[in-house]
Amino acid sequence: MFKDDALTSKTVLVTGGGSGLGLAMAAGFAALGATVAICGRTEEKLKKAAAKINAASSAGKKTLTHVVDVRDYAAVGLMMDALEEETGGLNVLVNNAAGNFLSASEELSPNAFKSVVDIVLHGTFNCTQHFGKRAIKANRASSVLNIVTTYTETGSAFVMPSACAKAGVYAMTNSLAYEWATYNIRVNSIAPGPFPTEGAWTRLMPDPKMEQAYKNQIPAGRYGEHEELANLASFLISDASAYITGECITIDGGERLKAGQFNFIAQAAPREQIKQFFNMMKASAKKKG
Ligand code: COA
Repeated sequence: MFKDDALTSKTVLVTGGGSGLGLAMAAGFAALGATVAICGRTEEKLKKAAAKINAASSAGKKTLTHVVDVRDYAAVGLMMDALEEETGGLNVLVNNAAGNFLSASEELSPNAFKSVVDIVLHGTFNCTQHFGKRAIKANRASSVLNIVTTYTETGSAFVMPSACAKAGVYAMTNSLAYEWATYNIRVNSIAPGPFPTEGAWTRLMPDPKMEQAYKNQIPAGRYGEHEELANLASFLISDASAYITGECITIDGGERLKAGQFNFIAQAAPREQIKQFFNMMKASAKKKG
């Protein structure tokens, strides 16, 4: 669908780009010609990821890496200054860095709640404000893409800090989309459903039975492929979506629709059996007149 040079004019920072979905998106951007920078807390992880992104680059560009904790406002500012020097200025920020784990909410320590909110909500603010200030000053058309979640609106049991923080990021997305439209800065989000990564699965899906039960309730009957997320992200940061701002696109194989009252029937029996049952009901209703 995309031309190899679709993102050649984009200089993108992906936070938490050293692994998982951040790395997949960064490699996807590089494959379409973007200049890519990634940041994270572990230098070794970033270096390994950079080699993979370099190998994916259609333009033979070198990936930049910065060791930073997105919770540290001053350190994020120094990284943004360095990136201005190194790249001539970013024009895309992807806020992907996150923290999450399963826990009963009554057992959370205050610091556990704070840690997740600091990474997800404060981290997104720190990166976005530093990015926005520089883009506004340079009068640079830009975009921000925030990775949220499908439970942003519903909340979710056992990941309450993440739900609170992601809901904040969702509100930030829409607030800034309106406020910064005048500066030609677009702000969108993606709500991914289940995309297996080592980081997420060890924290959130530790048991094979739990994983199978989870997969059974996804209407598409499968998890998402990393490339599918990278494609959507590429579209949203590209000029093909220049008039889209303040939008959240869900990519989850239909999982978010599970609340539909009769949806449970879809999983109750094989489809042919379900259809036979419906036809029996129809025939019996006809008989009764
Ligand atoms: N259940 C309950 N509390 C937990 C926890 C868990 N599984 N893991 C960590 N915590 C608590 C710690 O006990 C600590 O609280 P305390 O000081 O009261 O004991 C607090 O959270 C901070 O933990 P710590 O490990 O010191 O913080 P950190 O900043 O190094 O790590 C996390 C932050 C906890 C979010 C960590 O999981 C992380 O770094 N995650 C990044 C990657 C990630 O989660 N990706 C998302 C995949 S879906």
